Amino acid sequence: MEKKFKRTLITTALPYANGPVHIGHLAGVYVPADIYARYLRLKGEEVLMIGGSDEHGVPITIKAKNEGITPQDVVDRYHSIIKKSFEDLGISFDIYSRTTSDIHKKTASDFFKKLYDKGEFIEKTSEQYYDEEAKQFLADRYITGICPHCKNERAYGDQCEACGTSLNATDLINPKSTITGATPVMKETKHWYLPLDKHEGWLRQWILEDHKEWKTNVYGQCKSWLDMGLQPRAVSRDLDWGVPVPVEGAEGKVLYVWFDAPIGYISNTIELLPNDWEKWWKSEDSKIVHFIGKDNIVFHCIVFPAMLKADGTYQLPENVPSNEFLNLEGDKISTSRNWAVWLHEYLEEFPGKQDVLRYVLTANAPETKDNDFTWKDFQARNNNELVAVLGNFVNRAMVLTQKYFDCKVPACGELTDYDRATLADFADVKKYVEDYLNQYRFRDALKEAMNLARIGNKYLADTEPWKLAKTDMERVATIMNISLQITANLAIAFEPFLPFSAQKMRDFLGMDKFDWAELGRTNILATGTQLQSPELLFEKIEDSVVEAQVQKLLDTKKANEAANYKANPIRENIDFEDFMKLDIRVGTVLECQKVPKADKLLQFKINDGLETRTIVSGIAKHYAPEDLIGKQVCFIANLAPRKLKGIMSEGMILSAENHDGGLSVIMPSREVKPGSEVK
Ligand code: 2FM
Ligand code: ZN
Repeated sequence: MEKKFKRTLITTALPYANGPVHIGHLAGVYVPADIYARYLRLKGEEVLMIGGSDEHGVPITIKAKNEGITPQDVVDRYHSIIKKSFEDLGISFDIYSRTTSDIHKKTASDFFKKLYDKGEFIEKTSEQYYDEEAKQFLADRYITGICPHCKNERAYGDQCEACGTSLNATDLINPKSTITGATPVMKETKHWYLPLDKHEGWLRQWILEDHKEWKTNVYGQCKSWLDMGLQPRAVSRDLDWGVPVPVEGAEGKVLYVWFDAPIGYISNTIELLPNDWEKWWKSEDSKIVHFIGKDNIVFHCIVFPAMLKADGTYQLPENVPSNEFLNLEGDKISTSRNWAVWLHEYLEEFPGKQDVLRYVLTANAPETKDNDFTWKDFQARNNNELVAVLGNFVNRAMVLTQKYFDCKVPACGELTDYDRATLADFADVKKYVEDYLNQYRFRDALKEAMNLARIGNKYLADTEPWKLAKTDMERVATIMNISLQITANLAIAFEPFLPFSAQKMRDFLGMDKFDWAELGRTNILATGTQLQSPELLFEKIEDSVVEAQVQKLLDTKKANEAANYKANPIRENIDFEDFMKLDIRVGTVLECQKVPKADKLLQFKINDGLETRTIVSGIAKHYAPEDLIGKQVCFIANLAPRKLKGIMSEGMILSAENHDGGLSVIMPSREVKPGSEVK
């Protein structure tokens, strides 16, 4: 039995305020969440849609330092850009606040304190790098050094961007603090950990048994985390930017950004409804739905629920409809490489075209797999779907009514069988759209709404009222009445998806009141209703417009390649003898699996021609283990063995790094004997 709820609390991942939002954020989170919120509101349900900026975390402090401004300056700048661009796109938050608000700091601090007092944390002391000149502990990103794997001299303490290997700061050779340039020393520090291992039992039941209906991508990711076994997670950091840890002796420590950010959903609800927020979070008849991107799944399905459970007074989310990623013109969207379509720029460059972007991002949403945004597709969907189908139908219905009936809804006469069949067709649309929306299948729901316009177009094309106008005005009146009723239906059906255009349609039709329940009705507009003179809903986008956007991206790509080359110049020449020291061989992959507790590492068993050797490689983000089994790879056979996450790795698998950081394993073009030398 499906559970009945009285109200729905929709949360949207809080974007980091270290850059503006781009189409990837929109397609993954904000557009679908907004469609869902608008749909429920239109049904008259009690709904809240909560958003806000995520303003803590190390990247913000690094950006501030690089620009010589304070972290507060950074987040002030981006918070206002983000907030305004969301408003302009019609994302209908009930509140869009921020994690530097006083209410948030207090809420997050109290949340931690309660868990601390209840004994829900464990305390652990570990050694971490400390900069004695700056007198502070160093987050991994604040340490650079030589990568032990590829010898890149600018590897970070958490990852070498040249070879993609995930690192611990202690792996770096010759580590240096990026703050002062000093060599950091090891120093003991105490932190608080949420013992996720203790929560594993109920999490398994709650997700794997009770929420089998979650999207496959979400369920699958949770299952693989749970199957690997959960570990305690540190919830504090040595940093001076964040919510201070509210415990004696915790000076200089703040809550880990991933601990405070999801509490932002709660604090923003409190800010909006100081006296009435609890029913949204604590009452069993509230349905909580988190809209997020796939990189946030573990935090929303495992860590945050464990925090809520540890508190003991909160409801857990009912669903976490996470999307996959949207790429741009074939490459991963990247803020640092400026490979993105930024929302605030789009709104400036395409004034009045909010719905075009909303449409394209929904029609092409990465709901089940990563998808690609291209400007060609953007143009095609606008010209062939919005203009040619939806806009064309509405315009014809309006223009013909103006021409024959002086902008008044004509009376509907006797229906033909064909009229009845058409009306029956569109009566079903409501059910389909609803079913899809209830399953968070926004692309399919949009297709169904669009189908209504297709039905309308076909109806006008088949009945040809312009031909009947000379002989049978009564019949024309019926046809136009039906066409206008379809238009009224479109004005309702598209409200969640294309709110600006739906508003225009309602203005054309003089519909000041409307609700979802009316969808499918054929008598929404009363005979005689005065209509406005029609205007075009959408306009064609010319080639030159999208070409300019593609050129902008090409310029970005060129600039990135130049910067990349500068950052990775060809190294000094080496002697032939040095080259000959390298023993590169081909091996066949016998086994391949993820390394537990290391999200970037894969462990291989390789037939090297003589025996089976183990190699650990940092490519887990780029390959599914099963896709490599049976393949031939090239590896350095005489690299001194070294331990990675406790596993002795006997060699290094060679990969090519794409400019976007993607890694591609080098494979021989024809099969060769395992152990063959690469020369
Ligand atoms: O991945 C991100 O962009 C995070 N700032 C999302 C945080 S979601 C929530 F927990 F606030
Ligand atoms: Zn490296």
